[in-house]
Amino acid sequence: MNSVNRRLVNMYELVSSVTNACDLVSPELGNHHQQVAYLSYQIGKQIGLTQEQLKNLMLAGLLHDVGALSYDERHELVESEPPHAQDHAFRGAALLEKFPPLAEAAGIIRFHHIPWGGGEGNYFLGIKVPFLSHLIHLADRTVVLIDKNKEVLRQVRGITEIINSQRKTKFIPELVDALLAVGSKESLWLDLVNHSLYEIIRETMIFDTMDLSFDDTIKLTKIFASIIDFRSPFTAYHSAGVAKTAEKLTELAGFSEEECKMMLVAGYLHDMGKLAVKNDVLEKPSKLDAEEYNIIRSHSYYTYRLLQPIKAFEQLNVWAALHHERLDGTGYPFQLSGDSLSLGARILTVADVFTAITENRPYRKGLDYKKALQILQKQVADGTLPLCGFHSG
Ligand SMILES: [Fe+2]
Ligand SMILES: [Fe+2]
Ligand SMILES: [Fe+2]
Repeated sequence: MNSVNRRLVNMYELVSSVTNACDLVSPELGNHHQQVAYLSYQIGKQIGLTQEQLKNLMLAGLLHDVGALSYDERHELVESEPPHAQDHAFRGAALLEKFPPLAEAAGIIRFHHIPWGGGEGNYFLGIKVPFLSHLIHLADRTVVLIDKNKEVLRQVRGITEIINSQRKTKFIPELVDALLAVGSKESLWLDLVNHSLYEIIRETMIFDTMDLSFDDTIKLTKIFASIIDFRSPFTAYHSAGVAKTAEKLTELAGFSEEECKMMLVAGYLHDMGKLAVKNDVLEKPSKLDAEEYNIIRSHSYYTYRLLQPIKAFEQLNVWAALHHERLDGTGYPFQLSGDSLSLGARILTVADVFTAITENRPYRKGLDYKKALQILQKQVADGTLPLCGFHSG
């Protein structure tokens, strides 16, 4: 087995980077995905689920709303359960089920807004609804009742009364009983509103059982790339295009097989920070004002911070997050220049510019290869882009 396949990535760390990005888009959402994962896990433990079930439950909690495309859709889902709540659940499940280690979690996510209805919620359109979907539903509807602007312990009574009044109609009574049992501990609520919930989950959950091979990491980050590209209105395949281009350039530059695979992942994730940018800014058809421009520019900073907790990605992050830096120091967000930009970072930068100018946009056709090369060469002459041969540094 070569070293690429021995390199393990923790799935909790990787999945959290994407869901934390989705939650960053608005402070009102708080850390919704982590809260649902944590509360589901505690209820699951209370009713004696197996380690494997707990693991799938936690992954489902962490990813359950990932199919919600826009900021508005996310808000609507947190505030109420609109009739179209199934859309994001089905969309998320369809994306994630393609990846075998997440197939169970995807099945749970698909039905996480189905009301229990005194037992009718056992099936939806003739399909059996997993028991754990009802558990996620309960955890989801419970945490959205927490008012982030008020002290949490004073809210517990009101929240549990609302949930308890919906036993049988919305929720499985046995699960409501389990919630009431775990909710009798103040620590549960203090954990849910703790800014360090990420670390708390890492400490108490089945963190150690979640290692992914690097080849599986490639498959999962490819799915995440499609989630990132959903959010960018003009370019459905930008991340995949950058990933493939950068991988090819690393091959040509003589990088090892392991490094080429890492570059592919760096390409898939380079714009992850865009998940933290509101759609009305990302999709604005007219010229951006100074504040909006700053918000868009912050995406590569967020890519860096979101990937930082993933230990196996230390090297790859430096390639992914520096794609808007420029050799002459005019880029962002770290204002690096010249020698402080590694060859890997330079390759991803070139791949990003090349992909951007050759892809079609609604307002212009992508440039052909010859024209694209002219633009790249001009940027090389200006001293912003590295393109003249490969050299380390
Ligand atoms: Fe949802
Ligand atoms: Fe949710
Ligand atoms: Fe970017």
